[in-house]
Amino acid sequence: MTPSVPAGGCCVGLYELPVVSFLLGPSFHPGGLETTSRLAQAALVAPGVRVLDVAAGRGTTAFHLAERFGAVVTGLDASDRHVEAANATARARGLDDRVHFVPGRAGRLPFGAACFDAVVCECALCTFDDPDVALAEMARVLVPGGRAAISDVVLRAPLPPDLQDALARALCIANALDEAGYASALTRAGFTAIATTPHDEAVLATIDRIERRLGALEALGAVPGDATLLSTPRARATLASARAFVRSGGAGYASFVGRRPRR
Ligand SMILES: C[S@@+](CC[C@H](N)C(=O)[O-])C[C@H]1O[C@@H](n2cnc3c(N)ncnc32)[C@H](O)[C@@H]1O
Repeated sequence: MTPSVPAGGCCVGLYELPVVSFLLGPSFHPGGLETTSRLAQAALVAPGVRVLDVAAGRGTTAFHLAERFGAVVTGLDASDRHVEAANATARARGLDDRVHFVPGRAGRLPFGAACFDAVVCECALCTFDDPDVALAEMARVLVPGGRAAISDVVLRAPLPPDLQDALARALCIANALDEAGYASALTRAGFTAIATTPHDEAVLATIDRIERRLGALEALGAVPGDATLLSTPRARATLASARAFVRSGGAGYASFVGRRPRR
C-alpha cells in the first residue's frame, strides 16, 4: 500500500497525527532535547535572549529553551493545530509570559527585521518548499550578530529507491543535503562562521524508538485502521532500510550554527 501524507503541505498534516507523536515522542527530531540543548549552547541562548523557533511543532523545544536557558521564545509553525495546542500548553505551564506561538510559513516570516537574537530550526529545513528563501527570512529577522542554529538530516550518498517515497520525504530524508550543502545554503543567506556538529547516533536511536513503539502498537492491535501511512510491513521495511543506510554512512544528523555579520 502506498503511504499517503495527509493534506496540508509536505509534512504538516503528517506531524499532526497523534500516532506520529506516539512514535516520535514530544520532540519531532533525532536526539530530542539533548540535541536541542547542544544547539542552544552553540547559539549562545541564555536568559533574556529572544529566540524564534521556526517549525516549532508541539513547542517542546520552545518550552525547553525558556525553562532551561531562560530565553524568551516565539514559536512559528505552519500547523494551526500545533500552534493552538502549544499556546494552551504555555498557559497551562505558566510560561505564556515568555513563550508564545504563531501560525506562519518559514518562507514568509510574519515579523519585522532584526527582532530576534537567535533563530533555531530543527529537522524541518529540508522539508520546506524553498530552503534558501527560508534561510534568507531567518537572516532578515535576526539582529546583526544574531545566530541561526539549524539541525537536520544529512544525506551523504544517493537515497536507495525504497527511501524515496512520500513517507521518507515527510520524515525529512528525501530532500536532505550533505554537510557542505547546508553550510553553502547558510553562506548564500549571508551567514558566516558556520560551525558543524554531527549527531549521527541520534538517528539510529530514533529509528530504534519508532520500531519499538510500532511494535507496541501492533501488540495492542492499535495500528490505525486506515494504515495508509503506517502500513506496518511497509513502515518496518522503510525503518530497516533507513537503519542500514545510516549505518553505512549514507545519512546522519547534524547541526549548523552561523552568525549574521554585524555589518
Ligand atoms: C519534523 S517536525 C519538527 C518540529 C520541531 N522543530 C521539533 O523538532 O520538534 C516539522 C515541523 O515543520 C512544520 N512545517 C513544515 N513546513 C513548514 C513551513 N513551511 N513553515 C513552518 N512550519 C513548517 C510542520 O508543521 C512540523 O511541525
